[in-house]
Amino acid sequence: MAFTQSWIDELLAKNDIVSVVSGYVSLKPKGRRLWGLCPIHGEKTASFSVSPDKQMFYCFGCHAGGTAIQFIMQMERLTFPEAVRFLAERAGMTVPEDRDDEQYQQERARKERLYQACNLAARFYMENLIGANGGPAREYFARRNIGSSAVKRFGLGYAPEGWDNLKNHLTAQGFTEDELLDAGLLVRNPNSGRIYDAYRNRVIFPIIGVNGRVIGFGARVMNQEDKPKYINTGDTPIYNKRRNLYGLNLQKSTRLSSLIMVEGYTDVIGMYNAGIENVVASLGTALTEEQARLLTRYVSSVFIAYDGDAAGQNATLRGLDILQKEGLDVRVIVFPDNLDPDEYCRKYGKEGIDALIDAAISLNSFKLICLKRGFDLSKDHDREKYAMDACRMIARMEPVQQEACIAQVSKETGLSVASLEAQIGRDQKRETVSEQNARRRAGASSGRDALKDVNSARNIAEGMIVSCMARSAEAVKYVRENQILDSVRNTVYKDFGLKLAASEDPEKEIHSIVGTMEEGPASLISSLLNKDTQYGSPVQMIDDCVERIRKIERDELIDSLGRQLAAPGLSPENRKDILMRIQELNRQKNANN
Ligand code: CTP
Ligand code: MN
Repeated sequence: MAFTQSWIDELLAKNDIVSVVSGYVSLKPKGRRLWGLCPIHGEKTASFSVSPDKQMFYCFGCHAGGTAIQFIMQMERLTFPEAVRFLAERAGMTVPEDRDDEQYQQERARKERLYQACNLAARFYMENLIGANGGPAREYFARRNIGSSAVKRFGLGYAPEGWDNLKNHLTAQGFTEDELLDAGLLVRNPNSGRIYDAYRNRVIFPIIGVNGRVIGFGARVMNQEDKPKYINTGDTPIYNKRRNLYGLNLQKSTRLSSLIMVEGYTDVIGMYNAGIENVVASLGTALTEEQARLLTRYVSSVFIAYDGDAAGQNATLRGLDILQKEGLDVRVIVFPDNLDPDEYCRKYGKEGIDALIDAAISLNSFKLICLKRGFDLSKDHDREKYAMDACRMIARMEPVQQEACIAQVSKETGLSVASLEAQIGRDQKRETVSEQNARRRAGASSGRDALKDVNSARNIAEGMIVSCMARSAEAVKYVRENQILDSVRNTVYKDFGLKLAASEDPEKEIHSIVGTMEEGPASLISSLLNKDTQYGSPVQMIDDCVERIRKIERDELIDSLGRQLAAPGLSPENRKDILMRIQELNRQKNANN
């Protein structure tokens, strides 16, 4: 997917970096830059800077840097084209290819119809709740202490008894059965082929996306006997349960420090009734990576408040690991007596919940508790097995997290801290070998050589050349006329240098050039541009660098010729030839030094 340079320039011009960054970080001016706490690596002293004249950011701590595009890639965990779309939307611009792409246009139009159908359906359900036939649903909500404020906030409704209330309502407004089937509002009986309302005689919980639009529904029975308890919208073109969280739409404008993750619709609502609003629900499914990323856009810390029995299940624990892997600080709220958050709130109110939140435990100690459940620690054999499993788990933790867990296991099993530590040391060694293998495999396939070894002598010299180009038009001209980029091997530097060389006004275009780069390369270039090196004459500097590169190449050549000499079956003539070349190179080397 290629965007033209001029369009990217317009995009960046319309998304002033100071205003983009200010949505995430509070900035204070000092010198020619604005400074704040780096939102990318998290820190206590400000090393994150934004330069309004260059329209770029750079963190002196983690060396992330680039334009507004790379900033959004990092903050919103988006790919380059996604970040471009994000900023285009922010600035009210249309992505050029969308304008021209007919298929894309058709899909958009189709989705727009489904959004409208869901919106009208939600309204229809709500009117039924309030209306003459809504009695049973109103009574149901009243029994659960769900009052008009919650009804309004969550847009609750009622799907009346009958097969085609919604179908008639929406087809009368011009929607086709196909559209309503696609939106999950109607279903087709596979045997009879009959098409009818998906939700009947149930209370309705609309699912609203972070864009504020209704995308799906949860529908609950009102009697214990009826089954299934919930019917939920399956995946549709506008709703994917792996990518959404119930209640997240309500969190948008508030500045949050943490979110509480519960399982069900009614848990979110129960917590709201108790006065706790920073709550979202995973809707009874194991968490996905997409949901975890979504959360990182809002908070860095998550409390898990799952029903007592469910939280310890393996699928759930894997979900919690995913949250941690995305960098979220995960703590677990443990509910006594198998109560769920909704029941607990009704029984103990806000103070009760606040006390549980204060007592939340780390994900690691929660995992140990779950692990322990499978063993009878009064038996020697079980104690040993539990200790072994626990040590394997602890070996994978960060060192600072290990201490408390070791103490916990030592207390539970009566084993000494020293022997547990020895066991963990052994597990860690095993882990490292397999990690190394994994890394080797990943390294072989990734091919991101340009980003490796940036501190090698050669890369430093090459970086200096393009850095001089970025600072001086004279240097650009010099490099262009003497084809100096031929000596630059690092593909990121070379690419950046070539673009500067091709540019009319290199200094002005730096940020738009960086604007089209992926995250890694953009950070590499930013770190180069923000190095505080004293520059004499840029042309002199470039000459020095080229000279350094020549020397490095000469040394490499001497090494390689030396290896050729050692090769078996070398003819005497070739040997003599190689020896002479080595001598000549060494002579040059000594003359220069
Ligand atoms: N769920 C579902 N289908 C079911 C049961 C549960 O889709 N048959 C999902 C729902 O999203 C539900 C969540 O899992 O909200 C949690 O299930 P559960 O704890 O059983 O329901 P609650 O949310 O506690 O609902 P209620 O309080 O009304 O029983
Ligand atoms: Mn419940």
